[in-house]
Amino acid sequence: MSEPFIRPYRPADRDGVVEVCIRTAAGGGDATGLYSDDLLMPEVFALPYLEYAPELAFVVDSGDGERVLGYVLGVADTREFVAWWRHEWAWWFRSRHPSPGPSTGHEPAFTEEELLAAGSDPGRMLIAEVDDYPAHLHIDLLPELQGRGFGRRLIDTLRAELARRGVPAVHLGMDAANTGARAFYERLGFHELPSSRPDAPLLGISTRFSD
Ligand SMILES: CC(C)(COP(=O)(O)OP(=O)(O)OC[C@H]1O[C@@H](n2cnc3c(N)ncnc32)[C@H](O)[C@@H]1OP(=O)(O)O)[C@@H](O)C(=O)NCCC(=O)NCCS
Repeated sequence: MSEPFIRPYRPADRDGVVEVCIRTAAGGGDATGLYSDDLLMPEVFALPYLEYAPELAFVVDSGDGERVLGYVLGVADTREFVAWWRHEWAWWFRSRHPSPGPSTGHEPAFTEEELLAAGSDPGRMLIAEVDDYPAHLHIDLLPELQGRGFGRRLIDTLRAELARRGVPAVHLGMDAANTGARAFYERLGFHELPSSRPDAPLLGISTRFSD
């Protein structure tokens, strides 16, 4: 049986990344059917990253090149990414989602209205610490891959690549209810940033492993 391994993203992985995103987007659980359009989550939290910085995307290959089992996506400079999003992504996103779609009968913690606002206005990414922690990331693994060390290795891979490019530190925002992810980040050495709030945790870490 082939063993999963980490490799750089390539364009043929796009649908696989979308699938992993949907299956992990509800606070770490499956978001299939939660919104009027399953692509809403990836169009905010995955596809803009692949479009803007494919060189900072790494995937876990199932071992035979057939499936994407997980990924880490990053941008090196959040300010520049926000400027790009405003010019290149927001209009496209708004034209696809001018208003919330029909109710699915679900009540996700992150509502469809909030998701539409997040896709239209990237200003939310300009956190107070953005100059000291210019990069940010998203990481998601399918359930069958979790707990096997790939999350740690994906974060290490991205940190090393950011360090190589001279980026000093990376941050992330997360769902407060995702206690498993919080434990994971703390285990890896992420610390809470000053502007973190209990309802909107913000964590950061240096890209240098000695810090
Ligand atoms: C959160 C996630 C990225 C962690 O990746 P993972 O591959 O499962 O974690 P790893 O196996 O690499 O664990 C790394 C370390 O964190 C610890 N850890 C991981 N999950 C943990 C948990 N739920 N509770 C306590 N510790 C945990 C591990 O024990 C391990 O410690 P060690 O290396 O010292 O032995 C992954 O589980 C995931 O994608 N979950 C669903 C989507 C998600 O929540 N994404 C994050 C959104 S903010």
